[in-house]
Amino acid sequence: MQIKKDFSLKNFNTFGIDVKARFFVAVTNVQELKNALELKEYPEKFILGGGSNMLLVNDINALVIHVNNKGKTIISENDKHVKIKVMAGENWHQFVLWTIEQGFGGLENMSLIPGNTGTAPVQNIGAYGVELKDSFVCCEAINRENLEVREFSKEDCKFGYRESFFKSEGKDAFVITNVTFALTKRDHKLHTGYGAIEEELQMQHIVDPSIKDISNAVISIRNNKLPDPKEIGNSGSFFKNPIITKSEFENFTKKHPTAPFYKVSESAYKIPAGWLIEQCGFKGKRFGDAGVHTKQALVLVNYDKATGEEILGLAHTIIKAVYAKFGISIQPEVNVIK
Ligand code: EPU
Repeated sequence: MQIKKDFSLKNFNTFGIDVKARFFVAVTNVQELKNALELKEYPEKFILGGGSNMLLVNDINALVIHVNNKGKTIISENDKHVKIKVMAGENWHQFVLWTIEQGFGGLENMSLIPGNTGTAPVQNIGAYGVELKDSFVCCEAINRENLEVREFSKEDCKFGYRESFFKSEGKDAFVITNVTFALTKRDHKLHTGYGAIEEELQMQHIVDPSIKDISNAVISIRNNKLPDPKEIGNSGSFFKNPIITKSEFENFTKKHPTAPFYKVSESAYKIPAGWLIEQCGFKGKRFGDAGVHTKQALVLVNYDKATGEEILGLAHTIIKAVYAKFGISIQPEVNVIK
């Protein structure tokens, strides 16, 4: 384990923010992770996975531990199902592509989501009608205080929309080291109902899609709509879609009859934050190197040298404008690290 000093994190966060870690170490297995967590000479520690869901605002005055353990194992299978344990440091999209190559179904709608597998449960990643929790079995995590390994069942994780135990009560208390998924080997449960997927499949004249066709459709939709972090720094959706009550919704829809919405339950409705932000005139706007993506207003981007402070300032301006126009509070989905 080599500890580096004043190490730039620019290539370790998908926003591409150039802040420094006072100390930095990459760990490639659980023992190294435990050793790093035990280092008494660095009392402050910060865990970094794929860096795809965070906005770094300042230098991090701590030992940054980059979790980079790799590997995947089939732990059980029958003719219909397979259970796979994946190490936290595996890149999510590469893992999804591998499952599709093996003919395993369940993750295809979540193709091309940036980040690592170990941090995917933290915000219960999701896309095109499917969430991580749908195929999640359990994960193992190390308690940062006593270094004990604990297994978390799906229930323990308390998954919600872009939410989990690891983002609420368990925040900063555990480091996820591996995740187990249950996938299908045949009779895959396909989710093609999401409008954009239907359109994409129709365009390609595919009537009986395979999991590979769905993955390709999702990749094509995402490539068209969402910026590639390798080209333009970003963290995917910067905001969550706000959920409002039925009476708020009735009021809202009277004033804005053409607004898109999803009914979450009898008493709750989700309004796409991208639509709200676009209505406020921010789509495609650029303020220095900080901007709002041209094709999806939910995504904030770093064109080159924006600071975390500048991106955060833009986020606050947007939150205020949306509230002033619609009376709806939107909240960041990404972790803002100050
Ligand atoms: N819309 C606009 N303007 C915009 C963006 C969206 O009017 O600039 C409208 C669209 O026309 C559509 C609606 O808003 O009617 C929904 O848009 P979209 O299908 O693009 O989905 P979203 O609700 O904006 C969510 C996720 C995305 C995920 C897509 C597809 C959240 C916060 N975001 O976006 O997740 O890819 O659905 O499932 O729930 C991410 O989390 O990083 C992410 C990209």
